[in-house]
Amino acid sequence: MRLLMATPTGWRREGNLPAELTSFVGRTRLLATLKRHLSETRLVTVTGIGGVGKSRTVLRLAHQVRAQYPDGVWFADLGRLQDAGMVNQTIASALGIADQSSRAESESLAEWVGERDMLLIIDTCEHLVTGCAGLVHELLEAAPNLKVLATSRQSLHLPYEHVIPVPPLQVPGDDPAENLFTNESVQLFAARARASVPDFTLDEDNIGTVADLCRRLDGIPLAIELAAVRLRALSVEQILGLLADRFSLLAGASRTALPRHQTLRAAIGWSHELCEPAERLLWARLSVFAGDFELDAARFVCSDGRLSAERITNLIGELVEKSILLIKNNDAGLRYKLIDTLAEYGEEWLDKLGQTEQMRQRHLDYYLSLARRGEDAWSGPRQIYWFVRMRQEHDNVRIALEYALRTPGKQPLALTLLSSLWFMWVCCGFAREGRLYLERALEANPHPSKERCKALWVLAYIRNSQGDSVGGQTAAEKCSSEAVQVGDSRAVILGSKMQGTAAMLQGDMQKASALLGVAIEFNTDNKELNPGLLPAIVELSIVLTAQGEFYEAESLLQDCLQVCRERGELWLSSHAQWALAGTRLATNRPEEALQSVREGLRIKLHFHDTLGTLLALESSARIFVALDRLPLAALLLGALQQNWKSAGLPQLGAPFLSDDHNACVRECVRRMGELAYKSAFEEGARFDLEEASALALGELDALEDGS
Ligand SMILES: Nc1ncnc2c1ncn2[C@@H]1O[C@H](COP(=O)(O)OP(=O)(O)OP(=O)(O)O)[C@@H](O)[C@H]1O
Ligand SMILES: [Mg+2]
Repeated sequence: MRLLMATPTGWRREGNLPAELTSFVGRTRLLATLKRHLSETRLVTVTGIGGVGKSRTVLRLAHQVRAQYPDGVWFADLGRLQDAGMVNQTIASALGIADQSSRAESESLAEWVGERDMLLIIDTCEHLVTGCAGLVHELLEAAPNLKVLATSRQSLHLPYEHVIPVPPLQVPGDDPAENLFTNESVQLFAARARASVPDFTLDEDNIGTVADLCRRLDGIPLAIELAAVRLRALSVEQILGLLADRFSLLAGASRTALPRHQTLRAAIGWSHELCEPAERLLWARLSVFAGDFELDAARFVCSDGRLSAERITNLIGELVEKSILLIKNNDAGLRYKLIDTLAEYGEEWLDKLGQTEQMRQRHLDYYLSLARRGEDAWSGPRQIYWFVRMRQEHDNVRIALEYALRTPGKQPLALTLLSSLWFMWVCCGFAREGRLYLERALEANPHPSKERCKALWVLAYIRNSQGDSVGGQTAAEKCSSEAVQVGDSRAVILGSKMQGTAAMLQGDMQKASALLGVAIEFNTDNKELNPGLLPAIVELSIVLTAQGEFYEAESLLQDCLQVCRERGELWLSSHAQWALAGTRLATNRPEEALQSVREGLRIKLHFHDTLGTLLALESSARIFVALDRLPLAALLLGALQQNWKSAGLPQLGAPFLSDDHNACVRECVRRMGELAYKSAFEEGARFDLEEASALALGELDALEDGS
């Protein structure tokens, strides 16, 4: 089965560069300088005032040098992040890192980068300079082939950093011999003018005014873009006249030029004034979103008696026309984004209106309800949709969580939001982030409550999924005992389910079987498939297989797969397929085992489920040994060794998995001979997860032929 959806970022050597949405103008010399510095040093920081083109220039550069980095060029945007404690996490998730590790974040980030020959771009560091500098330093020390390119309004203050200031674009008059028509600022104005008024042309009649306007705007790209969109309603002369009035007002009677950052503010302020009052209000309100957002979210969060949801739909269109909002069109539909500097302006405006609290609360409400909807729908036919959706909403979820966590009286909502999102943390590859937040939220809400009980079983679920069975057990036990105190029977059951999982991971099969059995019994009404019922069934089947009860194990799994098919649940079915492969292999049916493991693996790839994929690859290696395809097995063992490193403890630190793994290695060495094994193993160690999976799926034919 092939599911149609975009591969999530990460796992791919080529990186995650965003596309350039508009044409790029000039900057030839700056780009050449940046390239030179980047080849001479490992950290280049691009500085400059807001709107001058730092991000855009760096993005251009990144596209140009992409081919020079075999392990890709990666882009992490810290623009809307407020919590310095989440810098590592944000970068890790931009890299698409296997996020399940329970180790310190910077350690696993550095390990992930390791020997990779790659460029990491950290966009917008100025508000988190200390945190960024610390992390960058650690990474550069640990990863010899890494280069970092940062953008920031101020430098990172690292001794080996090369700081390259981005000046505004050339303006007419900088070079008296220059042809006005080819001047950079003029070109940018003309390009954006044509985008808003298609028949706009530069000619001898208007070039003088356009040149004056660009000079007025100091060659600041954002200011030029904001002015150019006004051509729909105003002539170039009118724009120049209005701006000139405004600037001279601001600069006082002396008519001296404004400092550049004030030029930009004035240009933004002017744009702002030309907006209708309702557009201004919406602009301010939209500043509560982090990154991009969808129309529905804007309609919910920003509407009230003064601004109806219907009105918002139209106003968004107007703000796009005025270049205040960018459109991002991707597989999942249209999304919108406020340009950074404009979002800051909106934020200040919102503050002045005294509506910040109200909007943050609405934003939190929206993501609370989205999380609940996702939770309810997760084990159903739209699982992939929810997976894609939550990945897209990640930045907004994060900012809503941060708000709830730092606002007195709202901390219980942080618990609720975090717990509803268990499927995002456990199933969508964000275990580490979920864990970090949950631990903080539990600390902020120390008194036993139903909300806390749920957070505790979610924490146990995450920790177990990371292979941290001791941590899983602690949280699960706490859940069970607090659940008794507050009289929450559902949490009592889930607490013991999670204790059962921890016991299984620790190899205590008897305890596991008893506790998982209880969880299954209490959930047989099929109401709650995950985490109460189906994971418990899969885990119980693993226990039964380990105990030699193969027939029972297989029939449990078949039932589980049947329920998955009926409900359209994919994520768990892939887990069940993996378990089934184990049972089939244990009963000497490697061909059937291969079929199961491959079916599961294909699904796991779509969910970017790193741990699940690694487990499936472990099984594949053992199956290939059983099928006498030893070189393939050795390649996979090499890939596994390498890829476990970034995911957490090898084989989850679970004895029953590592025993199998070690036996597989021994068997391979014995039958292939040390030398042949070693060479295949080393070759495999170069494979990333995607390549290793293709190998296991039989999609790398050349290699298979050699086996
Ligand atoms: N050389 C260029 N050619 C075309 N457009 C440009 C160029 N430089 C900047 N822009 C446009 O100008 C706007 C502002 O640029 P950008 O966002 O890169 O500024 P910035 O310096 O990163 O600002 P901030 O400090 O707010 O992050 C963007 O819309 C960008 O696409
Ligand atoms: Mg920027």
